[in-house]
Amino acid sequence: MPVAQADPARPIFHVAAPAQWINDPNGPIYYRGFYHLFYQLDPFSDKGGPKYWGHARSRDLAKWETLPIALWPSSEAGEAEVWSGCCTINGLGEPMIFYTSIAPGKSAQTHAEQWAAIGDADLIKWRKSPANPVLSESLHDGRKIYDWRDPFVFRDGKRTFMVTGGNLNEAQGGQAVVNIYEAENAGLTQWKYRGVLFDLPDSTARTAECPNFFKLGDQWVLFVSPYGKVQYFVGDFDAKSCRFQPRTRGLLDFGPNFYAPNTMQVPDGRRLVWGWVNGFPGGHGWNGCLSLPRLLTLSRDGQLRQNPAPQLSKLRGEAVEQRTIRLENDGKTLLLPKTNTLELRADIDLKTAESIVLGIKSGADDARPVVITFSGSELKVMDVEAPLSLAKGGRKLGLRIFIDRSVLEDSANENVCATKIISPLDARATLEIRAQGGAASAKVQAWPMKTIW
Ligand code: FRU
Repeated sequence: MPVAQADPARPIFHVAAPAQWINDPNGPIYYRGFYHLFYQLDPFSDKGGPKYWGHARSRDLAKWETLPIALWPSSEAGEAEVWSGCCTINGLGEPMIFYTSIAPGKSAQTHAEQWAAIGDADLIKWRKSPANPVLSESLHDGRKIYDWRDPFVFRDGKRTFMVTGGNLNEAQGGQAVVNIYEAENAGLTQWKYRGVLFDLPDSTARTAECPNFFKLGDQWVLFVSPYGKVQYFVGDFDAKSCRFQPRTRGLLDFGPNFYAPNTMQVPDGRRLVWGWVNGFPGGHGWNGCLSLPRLLTLSRDGQLRQNPAPQLSKLRGEAVEQRTIRLENDGKTLLLPKTNTLELRADIDLKTAESIVLGIKSGADDARPVVITFSGSELKVMDVEAPLSLAKGGRKLGLRIFIDRSVLEDSANENVCATKIISPLDARATLEIRAQGGAASAKVQAWPMKTIW
């Protein structure tokens, strides 16, 4: 742990384990006054060996505390790993985790079972359900589902469903599926296979990990992680046939380092998402963190909107820059907080400018500055490219940028997000903002960010 804590690249306002490897967020749930996040954890190394479930909770989505490991493999019951899943309250009022159980010496591609555990009122102590495995492959009437995993429970009216990911052809591409099951008892220990909710349309999608399926407003939204950029689909759910018919689709994040997101419904009905931020260099006693919580909404034309959860503003220190600047085919350099954990907000009006460039640099010699360019139709965040067109009649670009040592999370106009691992800035960092080909104005705000722990 001291090795991890001492690493100057380790983020301080993103949820992570105190040390060692983490991957997917698991079972996000708001329960009895706390936001709970579990996550895939290898407690023994920073390399991603057998998985356990780590646990953190928060009262306000800003400050977090680490809790004891929630789930570990029950070796006496023939379990080697506890993989991703969800947390829900069953019809008997019991907190319940569903997860994928991997047996010793078996390949997860061909052998998996979905297990459950029952929690205490604090969600701290869990005991494996005597009904395990609650779902086994024999449910599928002879159909072979490869990479069958990551249960996610949702409700529609009085009915309770579960989706799982998988593919029908050994992850060779083109037959990735989201499977659907319906609960047959209040304790959620008996399930019926209802078929394929959705066939992924891409021939390149090798599987569908970590499906999340939920209602947002009057639309249904599906997230899948297909061993590539995380996709979303928005459309209708026919609860009779148990089929999903999407109308629109897109990517949750264009960066290379965001995967396996999982969502939480909060008491006011809104929904948050966290992803796994991956791709860190090994050998530092820690590896991986969760993204910041993003609040989900839909635009009228069915595009997903993601905004940093408003509660994050509690982590802000005193604003360092807060002013409006006018640019005329030129650039201006602004001060940043003297820290490498910061939030930056730029509300830009492109007026007559063709493009706008923001450069965050550690010093004159920074070889890998964070450069964000908007050309009118494309946003570029360092080497990450994403299409972005402005609303008709408007020339407004709203950027939200969070830099947490080696993690950059950025969103533009609430709908194009990019998460990327960067070299930490030093305390001399400046922001240059430049308008090209015409005039622009920008309101810029920057805050140092405090630790969540
Ligand atoms: C996604 C994933 C899940 C699986 C877990 C194992 O990153 O591969 O499909 O349950 O990680 O840690």
